[in-house]
Amino acid sequence: MTHTLTRVRTTINGEAVEFLCEPRQSLLECLRDILGLTGTKEGCNDGNCGACTVIMDGRIVNSCLVLGVEVEGREIITIEGIAQGGRLHPLQRAFLEDMAVQCGFCTPGFIVAVKSLLDQDANPSEEQIRQWLANNLCRCTGYDKIIHAIRQAAAEMQEVKV
Ligand code: FES
Ligand code: FES
Repeated sequence: MTHTLTRVRTTINGEAVEFLCEPRQSLLECLRDILGLTGTKEGCNDGNCGACTVIMDGRIVNSCLVLGVEVEGREIITIEGIAQGGRLHPLQRAFLEDMAVQCGFCTPGFIVAVKSLLDQDANPSEEQIRQWLANNLCRCTGYDKIIHAIRQAAAEMQEVKV
């Protein structure tokens, strides 16, 4: 069976990108299977785990719930776009140093989601962080190390700004 392909022009991690996809394909499928950006993970594929989180025009979305054709003209940031100039982002370093990663499957989604939070509020409370991450599930860490790592990174980023 042949499928009609749609051309999509978008910006991913600051670079203009053009790809062909089927109208039924999710952004998650397009990122992973067409563009080779496999840092974004597929967990539930129905909007419940947050493993597939990306930033679209400044807002976090579950990429499994967005169609690839919907990102025409949008700006997308994935986990591959979080490191800066070959250096890990403070959030990535803090997750490693605080051992907030076990199997790591949920980690890209957490880091992308929290990057978006810190872009809006440089010093969120623990409660705000927990609420922001209500849609990001982790089966391994028990969450406390993740929250600790996020607070460490936020503090470090504020020191750098001062
Ligand atoms: S894979 Fe998208 S929310 Fe779980
Ligand atoms: S580290 Fe394994 S699911 Fe979070």
